[in-house]
Amino acid sequence: MSRSSSENTMTLTPQRPSLPMADLVHGNRSPVTCHLRCGDACFGEAPNTTRTSYFRDVAATALSRRSVLGAAAVGTTGLVLSSQPAAAAFREIAATGKPGTPGSGSLPFAAIAPVPNTVDAFTVPTGYRWDTIIRWGDPILAGAPVFDAANQTGAAQAQQFGYNCDYLDIIVTDRKGRRALLVANHEYTNENIMFPPTMDPSELIRTAMAAHGMSVVELRRKSVGSTWTYVPDSERSRRITVDTPFTVDGPAAGSDLLKTAADPTGRLVLGTLNNCAGGTTPWGTVLSGEENFNQYFHRPTVNVTPQEKRYGIGPADGRNWRSVDSRFDAVANPNEPNRFGWIIEVDPEDPMSTPVKHTAMGRFKHEGANVIINGDGKVVAYMGDDERFDYVYRFVSRDTYRSGGKKKDRAHNLTLLSSGDLSVARFTGDGLEDGVSDGTGEWIPLTVNGESVVPGFTTEQVLVYTRLAADVVQPTKMDRPEDVEPNYVNGFIYVACTNNTDRGKVGKEGATEPNPRNANKNGHVVEMQPTGGNHTSPTFAWNLILICGDAATAGTYFGGYTGPVSPISCPDNVAFDSAGNLWVSTDGQPNSIGLNDGLFKVPVAGPERGRVQQFLAVPIQAETCGPVIHDRDGSVFVAVQHPGEEGTWDAQTSRFPDYVPSTSAARAGEFAGPRPSVVQVTRG
Ligand code: FEO
Ligand code: CA
Ligand code: CA
Repeated sequence: MSRSSSENTMTLTPQRPSLPMADLVHGNRSPVTCHLRCGDACFGEAPNTTRTSYFRDVAATALSRRSVLGAAAVGTTGLVLSSQPAAAAFREIAATGKPGTPGSGSLPFAAIAPVPNTVDAFTVPTGYRWDTIIRWGDPILAGAPVFDAANQTGAAQAQQFGYNCDYLDIIVTDRKGRRALLVANHEYTNENIMFPPTMDPSELIRTAMAAHGMSVVELRRKSVGSTWTYVPDSERSRRITVDTPFTVDGPAAGSDLLKTAADPTGRLVLGTLNNCAGGTTPWGTVLSGEENFNQYFHRPTVNVTPQEKRYGIGPADGRNWRSVDSRFDAVANPNEPNRFGWIIEVDPEDPMSTPVKHTAMGRFKHEGANVIINGDGKVVAYMGDDERFDYVYRFVSRDTYRSGGKKKDRAHNLTLLSSGDLSVARFTGDGLEDGVSDGTGEWIPLTVNGESVVPGFTTEQVLVYTRLAADVVQPTKMDRPEDVEPNYVNGFIYVACTNNTDRGKVGKEGATEPNPRNANKNGHVVEMQPTGGNHTSPTFAWNLILICGDAATAGTYFGGYTGPVSPISCPDNVAFDSAGNLWVSTDGQPNSIGLNDGLFKVPVAGPERGRVQQFLAVPIQAETCGPVIHDRDGSVFVAVQHPGEEGTWDAQTSRFPDYVPSTSAARAGEFAGPRPSVVQVTRG
């Protein structure tokens, strides 16, 4: 399960002056990913068909006349400093009441060469090695059977590590740093490569269902800096699946919109779906976003409501889950889809706890949520709605964080995301005469003091039909905003906009200053600066720190850095090291620029601001997810999602991570095909 470092030196592309012009190439993600993960979301009409009356359509011709110069070097607010994992950093801040000392972010490496999209290898810089911590199918609960790829069952899978790990954190739980809890989301399943064609269809569906959800897994290591291994049979480990009970809380709990025949209270939901990214809170819980939940429900196109249409509820039903569980028939159970699309909160330290769906944080295709404690103690969560032309949101808690560290303080903190106010972002450009994509912005309230301020919408309607409520107040239509995450060192927020090949198409909004390219196949990263370093401020400044792509092509921008950079496309998840450097993982490079997806380091301050350097690459047809940067331990962790997704059971295209050559060579627990896995990268 371990691999030594690969020899791989950097061949970076020299930059040339470039302009944010329209790229004319369409398509960016594997058709298999589109179908299985998103229900072919990008092949259909983007659900946001609202007209935007205020926006300034920036013509590509205007853009082409102006060069994009470096954004002014940004300062730091000194608001919140951190090191180590988010929870530990927050606890340190909370305990001292003042900012900590930033670390060096020291993980010295020479950028790897970009890896062609035909390579089935996990690639790390010279001087580093990678080890697999856990793979799809590894038994994690007491009594769980050994993984047997040819004879899978739903009952076995419900006790084993799930499929397609996305959000990831490694939460250290003891003073010596030798015990931890790994928390991972399992976003979706790739039936074409997971299951033998002879498998019973109903058992296949039950197994796929059980492979969704989340895992909490106990880890141990010999000493700080050594490699983590997982503990089989640990009582601290847990699986959350589509059958796990969730409590619904917040203003929409108990709403008629959430009641079903099986749950007349509207307060008890079974399961979580399509969990994508997430965040770890200061009080040690994990937030997870329910993203493309719509695809699991079947709804013929006749008499589809505007609400169903805006959320993409329709006939797409490739997994046919309704054949084993009638609640996925959205005609018979029209409110069941309303019970998904939330931010959920899980307490990994208590395997018996009931996870919560927070209605106060709104319902949309949540990529994830990341929180920061504001200077006044309010907890502020930033969130993206990952769909073409959808929005960036902010939640501000009603109550304030308690730092005491006692049981009663933690119990209080567990309620912070249950009450508060939701707003949505409008980005206004200041014109391209200054040569930079930048400007100011405002948070437009959807609720104030916990109640709707959207004309024609009750509070419950704002929270359950958040997309439609937001449409009324005309926020900025973004290019698939995925991770939205605060940087604890400089207090700024970074938004990964993955791509939007529909921008500028006939009838669609064209380039704007915050989304400056038509047919945007490579994506960009927005840097937001809260006014006065106050995360509850109604206003902010913003600029694009990255306009992604291969620097040799027109239309890219790298924070003003003019030296060589690694090509980068389709930014998806972001993370930060102890010095506040931005790390970006990607989803879609194989189809946008012909390279395997990867993880990239990007300084955000100083002379190297915007210098993109590739740290690792994942294998063929995989996506890099859930980056965790523990630079003080000398470790980087990623979740490798959907390796070899374009294969079939009989013709696999990847054998990551074990590279078992054939079925006949496989030993118990092994598989001669790809296994989504969590990987640790260390010096050595
Ligand atoms: Fe699951 Fe938006 O990626
Ligand atoms: Ca400008
Ligand atoms: Ca994602």
